[in-house]
Amino acid sequence: MKTNNNVRMNEKIVLITGANSGIGLVTASHLAEQGAGVVLVCRNSDRGATALKNIARVATGIAPTLLVADLSSQASIRSLANDVHTQFDRIDVLVNNAGAVFAQRELTVDGIEKTFATNHLAPFLLTNLLLDRIQTAPSGRILLVSSKVHNNARIDFNDLQNERRYSAIRAYEQTKLENILFTYALAKRLADTNVTVNCLAPGLVASNFGRNAGGFISIMSRLLTPFSLTPEEGARTSIYLASSPEVAGVTGKYFFKCHEEPSSPSSYDSESTQQLWKVSENLTRLGEDTPSLL
Ligand SMILES: NC(=O)c1ccc[n+]([C@@H]2O[C@H](COP(=O)([O-])OP(=O)(O)OC[C@H]3O[C@@H](n4cnc5c(N)ncnc54)[C@H](OP(=O)(O)O)[C@@H]3O)[C@@H](O)[C@H]2O)c1
Repeated sequence: MKTNNNVRMNEKIVLITGANSGIGLVTASHLAEQGAGVVLVCRNSDRGATALKNIARVATGIAPTLLVADLSSQASIRSLANDVHTQFDRIDVLVNNAGAVFAQRELTVDGIEKTFATNHLAPFLLTNLLLDRIQTAPSGRILLVSSKVHNNARIDFNDLQNERRYSAIRAYEQTKLENILFTYALAKRLADTNVTVNCLAPGLVASNFGRNAGGFISIMSRLLTPFSLTPEEGARTSIYLASSPEVAGVTGKYFFKCHEEPSSPSSYDSESTQQLWKVSENLTRLGEDTPSLL
């Protein structure tokens, strides 16, 4: 796999969600080491503060910043976007990394199934709310951390929130396909701008992912540890897409091991892409309180 540790990121502002653990923590640390000013978005202030302290030790450029937000709540995402607007006049790279899986079907404060809300609606809403700041950067980059498991997914628009028969794995796989549909849709909408949008699969990584989900998921994630990549290995494609000059201008693509490859046939379905955008716009009430730049 390619390495990219020598690329300097001086003066670049990089916002990373889920930056206190696993792939997000390594991505944030490396980019800070490369000179970027990293903005860590974490839902727990103590875990965020620990990450901030550790990243500050290795940072070689602008000091890292911590913003606390629960991405399963749309009010919290809106408040996060307001904080970003107040504190930063541009964002060079947005890494939509945070993600979760839930053994049992749970609803968010907004009454939305939690996997769908956290893994798809959150990056959809946050990215749209921050687009003006990303478009202010000379060459903005947006990343979505998807997964190889998107290959197993089909989106049932009649049961988008898995009300009929909840399966944690199916709900999760679906959101990782949604990450890709969103990437392709946004890349198309931003085609004539200075912003690129790409997604990636990190591979199977030994992180905290799934460990606290409960039941079968927690057991499986522990059992798979010996067969998994380290978070350092798992973060390489995120770091590559965030910083490498090789991908300047590359947009609307799916990457694995720092190489572009095709995603599943379902991910290229233009009807699903459009339908998902419409549903997401309605569920997040995007446009009601924010002028869309698209
Ligand atoms: N691990 C794998 O094998 C694997 C494979 C393919 C794709 N991925 C994807 O990689 C991404 C990172 O996962 P990881 O493996 O690094 O897992 P991780 O160690 O569990 O990290 C996930 C991060 O997301 C944060 N997060 C979860 N729900 C959140 C919420 N509601 N609001 C704000 N932050 C939230 C977590 O915060 P807390 O620490 O507070 O929980 C944590 O910082 C995810 O999108 C996942 O789907 C992982």
